[in-house]
Amino acid sequence: MKKWFDEATIYQVYPKSFKDTNNDGIGDLPGVIEKLDYLKDLGINTLWLNPVYISPQLDNGYDVSNYFAIDPSLGTMDDMQRLIHLAHQHQMKIVMDFVMNHTSDQHPWFKDAVNNPDSIYRDYYLWAKGRNGGKPNNWGSFFGGSVWEKDPGQTNEYYFHLFDKHMPDLNWKNPEVQNSMIDIAKFWVKKGIDGLRLDAFIHISKADFEQDYPSDGKNPYPLAESFYANRKDVQDYLNHFSSELKKINPDIFIMGEASSANVNLAVDYSDPERQLCDSVITFRNFADDRSQNNHDIPENFQPAPIDVPGFREKMAVWQSNLEGISYPTLYWSNHDMARLATRYGDFDEEEASCKALALAMYLQKGLPIIYYGEELGMRNMNLQDLADFDDLTVPEFDQKATKAGFSHEEVLNMLNKTHKISARNAMQWDESNKYFGFSDHEPWKYGPTAACSVEEEQQEPNSVLNFYKLIIKMKQEPLYIKGREIVLNTKDKQVFGYKRIFNDHAAIVLCNLNKQATKVTLDDNLNDYDIRLIQKTANLDGKHQVSLAGWSSIVLEKK
Ligand code: GLC
Ligand code: CA
Repeated sequence: MKKWFDEATIYQVYPKSFKDTNNDGIGDLPGVIEKLDYLKDLGINTLWLNPVYISPQLDNGYDVSNYFAIDPSLGTMDDMQRLIHLAHQHQMKIVMDFVMNHTSDQHPWFKDAVNNPDSIYRDYYLWAKGRNGGKPNNWGSFFGGSVWEKDPGQTNEYYFHLFDKHMPDLNWKNPEVQNSMIDIAKFWVKKGIDGLRLDAFIHISKADFEQDYPSDGKNPYPLAESFYANRKDVQDYLNHFSSELKKINPDIFIMGEASSANVNLAVDYSDPERQLCDSVITFRNFADDRSQNNHDIPENFQPAPIDVPGFREKMAVWQSNLEGISYPTLYWSNHDMARLATRYGDFDEEEASCKALALAMYLQKGLPIIYYGEELGMRNMNLQDLADFDDLTVPEFDQKATKAGFSHEEVLNMLNKTHKISARNAMQWDESNKYFGFSDHEPWKYGPTAACSVEEEQQEPNSVLNFYKLIIKMKQEPLYIKGREIVLNTKDKQVFGYKRIFNDHAAIVLCNLNKQATKVTLDDNLNDYDIRLIQKTANLDGKHQVSLAGWSSIVLEKK
């Protein structure tokens, strides 16, 4: 059965950084409302908002202390209702982030669980006794250190936190937790939202705590993925959650963040027969060329160009395995990774590289998710101080990199090119002030960045912004929504190409993701095709060959 979200082109708004209307340096919901016309004009039809619930903002809203209200720094419930209403008037759907794995330690449930060990809320969280005078086990937290923290109250127990220690994990084994989370979700569905992006849902089930993870001896608290990610019970909890929501609104779109899900799990999670998610966001689609990295320091903070053959292989596997099951999500960046221009773009040919990358991703089969500012080719900001990254693992990286001979500037530069916080910079609207019209006040997180703005790019016919508009529009055609995809196995190391086929229609998309020119040989007879679009410089050389200048791309459509 056809659903509205089969045709979704999603735009991710990080509300704190989008548009500030009261000049306190924090973007807000009235700011999103103010920019609905801009978003409509861009051509997208769905907005995903990062969390807007009341939160101490330790993890920028992913630490929720009240799920039934809007954080005062972002606006009011009235603003949220106005946004839902006006978005719908603009024919746009609203998807809210839904934080289900943990709450803030300031949430009344957790406070009560700590203050009163007999409280019914004690069992809303995960507790364990220490072992041999230490933590219950050696499992590591995603935010550094152990997953265990001492009960701040009277007992000798520890509570479990997969992320920050101020974000205790919920106990989904407890049916009351399941019911409470379903009630919260229903509250929002009844307010008229159209979908939920399930934050970190793959972690809601944990293994027995009485076991250590095999350690390599280097890290006392190793990441213990198999003990807290993608466990079998996740699917039972999620099925209960999703089917309850679909009962009150069968059209609700459930988009699950499954960062470490491989393709087989993605198939399980998004198989319509199972009623779990409608679509899955994985982080496993990317491939980086790490051949130039320094092996003495962790790779996560070392910039690395795209590994095109690796990317091709991954896309081929995802496309063929999900065919007929669900639409994959298509994205290059989000609030948890560096911006596209910074990560894979070529600073010498910035516009062309951003366009080639966009075309490579978004005309594929699947649901595009465009991270705010990506449509301008915005880069990461340059934070000036290690403390600005608010990350426990940064000092450790600094230490290792310094020891390996990197200067302070080099360390900062590597972090700014790879870190998620540098990607959460204020949206660049115009050049009216130092903050690109985002606010008159310094943004809540600020570092200098490369100039570019909506206003300027609207006036420039060949801008990255206008190119995004063009391909977002093409994406609405049946061929690019429904057409089967075949990733082309071209013999070179730099071209990403694919074919889309729908009834008698077909298209070939070729993108040169490198500054060197190249020639691509195809099986198809090019005389059967028309040129739909050339970005930069491309030529058809005879029946089977296309030559592409560096960072050029072409779309051919069957006559
Ligand atoms: C998800 C979010 C990330 C957040 C984490 C904890 O991975 O995308 O930003 O820190 O969950 O909620
Ligand atoms: Ca504000």
